[in-house]
Amino acid sequence: MAGRPKNLVDPVRSAEANAARKAKRISVRTLAAAVGEPKSTVHRFLREGIIPGGDVSRADRLVATIDSGVAPAIGKSRREMREALTGQILQAGKAGRGKFAEDLQKAVTAARAEQGTRAVQIARPRGDLAELLDVTYPGVGLSDAVLRPDLREGVERIVIEHKRRAELEAYHLKPRRKLLFVGPPGTGKSMTAHGIATELGLPLFTVQLDGVITKYMGASASKLRLIFDSMIGVRGVYFFDEIDAIAASRGAENDIGEARRLLNSFLQLVDRDNSHSIIIAATNHSSLLDRAVFRRFDSAFHYELPTGEEARQVLKNNLLAFEKQKQEIDWDLVDERAQRLSQADLVAAAVGAARKAVLENEGQLTTDELVWALDARSQIHAK
Ligand SMILES: Nc1ncnc2c1ncn2[C@@H]1O[C@H](COP(=O)(O)OP(=O)(O)OP(=O)(O)O)[C@@H](O)[C@H]1O
Ligand SMILES: [Mg+2]
Repeated sequence: MAGRPKNLVDPVRSAEANAARKAKRISVRTLAAAVGEPKSTVHRFLREGIIPGGDVSRADRLVATIDSGVAPAIGKSRREMREALTGQILQAGKAGRGKFAEDLQKAVTAARAEQGTRAVQIARPRGDLAELLDVTYPGVGLSDAVLRPDLREGVERIVIEHKRRAELEAYHLKPRRKLLFVGPPGTGKSMTAHGIATELGLPLFTVQLDGVITKYMGASASKLRLIFDSMIGVRGVYFFDEIDAIAASRGAENDIGEARRLLNSFLQLVDRDNSHSIIIAATNHSSLLDRAVFRRFDSAFHYELPTGEEARQVLKNNLLAFEKQKQEIDWDLVDERAQRLSQADLVAAAVGAARKAVLENEGQLTTDELVWALDARSQIHAK
């Protein structure tokens, strides 16, 4: 088998495929143009269902054409096509062609992600859903966040599980999809949710809990259900920010069955969800969440205020235009004044200091501007 990947389809199937292709009126010429191959190769592809020559760059183009009609043309669903490709990836991996396997994997992921994005652009939340989901296509990756090493590793592992989902699935394993982010305001929970969506090329749907929670329990529950239905249809990262709005009410003094029932329906929906979407729920108050909530999630990530070193990193990352002057700054003093500020506060302080430097100090950023801006942030909290 060396140098030549296994067939994607059997000959009988291929004959059917060819018929299907004709029925769909996708010409071999169109396919050839799409894959960037001579017609003879495409004929061979349709006959044998192989990736021409096992060439990765071509494989890449081939995968990209899955969505442009090749799959139906050879009588396969997109899913089957991807599964077949996944099989090839595993085989290539086993045959010691790691690079090829890796490149193919990337190509499949990219095609899948692209399809996810496209699907949403067509199926942007409408009607009731439009009020419940806010869709964005984040551009900020995880590398922009300053995270504790164990937290970063944990989050990156999630991304890898999704990127290499095919390998897991071959062993009947699944990537973790239900995540809980717990920690104080401004420590990067929303930022990480964006980062995960970016890394996976998925749209980020932020759930508008205000829209969900109505006076009428029945209406709230059915709104929640709409959101969970959407997860099946449109793969994405679904972000429930500040879930305490639902969850905290349980067991609280004014616990009048209603809130409790809403929480229960939320938990049941999380439990039952079997989609390919990622659910992230965030909260500031771990103490308000009861064990029943934690149990439904695959993993919980804990966010904290930054260490001194992390604080310095956040500041420096947000003062990129002042590269030279950063060396003159009394960082020990800055560290001291940065204490107890969140990462979000530090970003705001860095930007404030930069603004002051430009407008009031001829573009010279000194320790003074930074200390001034940090103190201003601290005062906001003192009030
Ligand atoms: N860990 C971090 N590294 C770098 N920047 C950060 C970090 N955390 C927060 N920031 C900055 O602060 C902004 C707001 O943070 P974010 O919205 O992620 O906080 P949060 O934890 O979701 O807070 P909240 O609980 O209030 O929703 C980010 O857009 C980013 O600029
Ligand atoms: Mg947030």
